[in-house]
Amino acid sequence: MNITKIELLNFRNYNKKIFDNFSNLNIIIGKNGIGKTSIIEAIYLGSLAKSFKTNNEYSIINNNSDFFKIKIYYFDYGPKKNLEILLDKNGKKTKINSKIQKRLSDFISQYRIILLSPDELKLVKSSPNTRRNYLNIQISQLHREYIYYLNNYNNLIKNKNDYLKKLMLNSNLDSRYLDIIDEKIVEEGIKIYNYRKKYIELINKYINIFFNKFSEKSTLFIKYISDFEINDINKLTKELKKIRNKEINVGMTSFGVHRDDYEFIHNGNNSKEFSSQGIQKLIILSMKLSEVEIFKNEYNISPILLLDDLFSELDEKNRNKIFKSLNKNNQIFITTTDLKNINKKLIEKAKIFNLDERV
Ligand SMILES: Nc1ncnc2c1ncn2[C@@H]1O[C@H](COP(=O)(O)OP(=O)(O)O)[C@@H](O)[C@H]1O
Ligand SMILES: [Mg+2]
Repeated sequence: MNITKIELLNFRNYNKKIFDNFSNLNIIIGKNGIGKTSIIEAIYLGSLAKSFKTNNEYSIINNNSDFFKIKIYYFDYGPKKNLEILLDKNGKKTKINSKIQKRLSDFISQYRIILLSPDELKLVKSSPNTRRNYLNIQISQLHREYIYYLNNYNNLIKNKNDYLKKLMLNSNLDSRYLDIIDEKIVEEGIKIYNYRKKYIELINKYINIFFNKFSEKSTLFIKYISDFEINDINKLTKELKKIRNKEINVGMTSFGVHRDDYEFIHNGNNSKEFSSQGIQKLIILSMKLSEVEIFKNEYNISPILLLDDLFSELDEKNRNKIFKSLNKNNQIFITTTDLKNINKKLIEKAKIFNLDERV
C-alpha cells in the first residue's frame, strides 16, 4: 500500500496544498508549528476517518473556513484509488473513488497505518480507556466485523446503564429485562474478549524479540486483564447474577469487557509502576514494531508507518536500532525538525519534503 499524493483544503494551517510524488520513504522536515504533524494527521484520517489529535474534528477546519476536505491518492496491488473526507456543518462525508460511502465502516481501513508519536509512547502510563481505545483501533484495522460487535456491546451497556439509573429513581424492577440484556452482554462480550486475547497473544509472540534489541536480557510481555477471563457463557451469566444487587445499588454496569485493560510486565513487574520513562517508551516502540510484524506475517498487510517527531525523543543508539528494524516493504513517513536526528543512510534513500523552503 502506497500513498502517492495528498490534497488538503482548509485543513489546519493549510488553505490549499498538494503534496505529490511520495516515495516509499518520505522525510518531512520543517520547524515547529509549520504543519508536519498535520500531514501525518491527514494520512491517519484517510485510514481511520478520525483524528489522533482531537476528538473535536471541527477544530481541524482552518480558522478562516467552515469546512475541510482531504483527498488521498494511493495504490495497493490493483489500480490507483482515491479517498476523500469532507467535514462541514452537516457532518462528515467520505468517498472512495468519488463514490459516497453510506457507512463509515465501509470507508475505513482502505489502507492500514501504524502511528508512532511522542504521545503514543505514553501508552504505558495512560488511562485504561486510552489503552482500550488503542487496542480497539488496531483490531478494527484487521477485523472489520469487530467494529460492529463493539458497537453492539457498547449499546447494550448504555441501555443497561440507562435502565439501572431509572431503577434508582423508581424501583419497579423487571428482572427479566436485566436477564435478557445480561445474556446479550455475555454473548457480544465474549466475542470482543476473544479478539483482544488473540491480538495480545500475537503481540507477545514478537514483543520480547524487539525489546531485547534495546534492552538485552530483560523480559517483556503484555498481560491482558479482563472480567471475561473465565470465557464461558454459563459461568459469566452466573457472575453477572451474583453482582446484580450491587449493580442496582450503584446504578452502573460494573462487570464486562468495557473495563478491560492490559499491563506491560517488564522483568516480572508492572512497568507502569516500576520502569523508567525511557524504558516505558522503548516498551511501546517494541509493541509497535511487533504490530508491524503481525500485520505483515499474520494478515499479509503492509501498514504505512507514520513516525511523527519520534527521533528527537530517543538517543542515537536506539534511533539506529529502530532504523534497522524498519521493514523496507512498508511505506514510511517520518517528520522531524532536524535532519541531524536521522541516520545518514536513511536520508540517502529518502525523498525529502522541506516545508521551510515552501513558505
Ligand atoms: N484550525 C486551524 N486553523 C489554522 N491553523 C491551525 C489550526 N489548527 C492548527 N493550526 C496551526 O497549524 C500549525 C501546524 O501544526 P502542526 O502540524 O502540529 O505543526 P508541526 O508538527 O510542524 O509542529 C500550527 O502552527 C497550529 O497553530
Ligand atoms: Mg508536530
